[in-house]
Amino acid sequence: MKSIRLGLSQNPYDILLEQGGLERVGEEVRPLVHGKSVLIVTDENVAPLYLDLATKSFERAGFRVVAKVVKAGEHHKTTETYLDVIDALGREGFLRDDTVVALGGGVVGDMAGFAAATYMRGINLVQVPTTLLAQIDSSIGGKVGVDLEYGKNLLGAFYQPKLVFVDVDTLSTLPEREWQNGLGEGLKYAVLDGGRLFEIMDEKSVKDNLEEFVFLCAGYKARIVEQDEKESNLRRLLNLGHTLGHAIEKKSGFEIPHGEAVKFGLALILQASKKLDGADVASIDKGLEMIEKYGGKCPFDTAELLPLIKNDKKAESTHINAVFAKRIGECFVQKTTFREFETLF
Ligand code: NAD
Ligand code: GLY
Repeated sequence: MKSIRLGLSQNPYDILLEQGGLERVGEEVRPLVHGKSVLIVTDENVAPLYLDLATKSFERAGFRVVAKVVKAGEHHKTTETYLDVIDALGREGFLRDDTVVALGGGVVGDMAGFAAATYMRGINLVQVPTTLLAQIDSSIGGKVGVDLEYGKNLLGAFYQPKLVFVDVDTLSTLPEREWQNGLGEGLKYAVLDGGRLFEIMDEKSVKDNLEEFVFLCAGYKARIVEQDEKESNLRRLLNLGHTLGHAIEKKSGFEIPHGEAVKFGLALILQASKKLDGADVASIDKGLEMIEKYGGKCPFDTAELLPLIKNDKKAESTHINAVFAKRIGECFVQKTTFREFETLF
């Protein structure tokens, strides 16, 4: 078993990685919480695969287990689904010491996490991520929430879990499209880190080094969140490639999946970064070569994307907090006016 301590002063917790370990999740949670009930929230795709194993594990550890299976997909990351989960907690008499377990991808993690954050002003939360994206990114760091009709993740909170429990064997059932989504975030970490993560992504050997890869990405994110839990500055680094990535997703009417859009967004921002003072062009070119190995070409001109950035919720009125690369392994956040940003493309 590998573990990463996310050492926040108020709410420190561990990210545990154990290949094939899902059947042991209950015993890892038992010493961390007082209450005897857990609500396992999962979706209709994950339930037939892993709900039984997880339920038995919590039962063996002495918990009363209630399951809530929700519809799968971003379309269901809504206040309705969230209220359904809240309703289950109320109906089943959950108390402050009890626990919500989010078993699934980022949608379940964010939505169930928000239910845990708000039911009785906050009950225990355990994240058991089952997509690559959730294992390397969304289950870590406490951003929870749901979408509103006006935009994504508009209703939410920062709410840290008591534990993140990762079994990379659950990724064996992941559809190819979801695997590609996770790899988009993997490219982001490779550019940010520049070390072994870059090597693994550059060799296209994530599947051969799966637990090490997830461990390194999770560790990278944990170190950032420790320093800037509420995203006042440093955590913005994790948005590398996302400003243009979100615009690409929007422009395609969400036909281009998130990971693919981040990949294109990363390539565009690396090209722009080469124009900045002090840029290590040779190093950035290596990053671009790595991204190219993952194929595809952005179907839009940057000129079509830039107006959409102004509507991104991460944009303040006239500025954006753009994330650029000085070289692979050294990125930085820079408050930039739209006008300055536009001149880089
Ligand atoms: P998802 O949760 O929709 O999962 C993708 C699909 O894979 C779903 O159909 C799901 O049922 C299925 N699935 C999950 N695990 C599986 C498994 N092991 N085997 C087979 N199928 C499986 O999507 P996602 O990509 O995991 O997460 C995307 C969400 O994460 C978005 O809503 C995004 O906003 C959010 N997110 C949050 C953060 C954060 O910090 N909280 C960071 C990044 C993304
Ligand atoms: N995925 C960005 C963050 O958690 O801050």
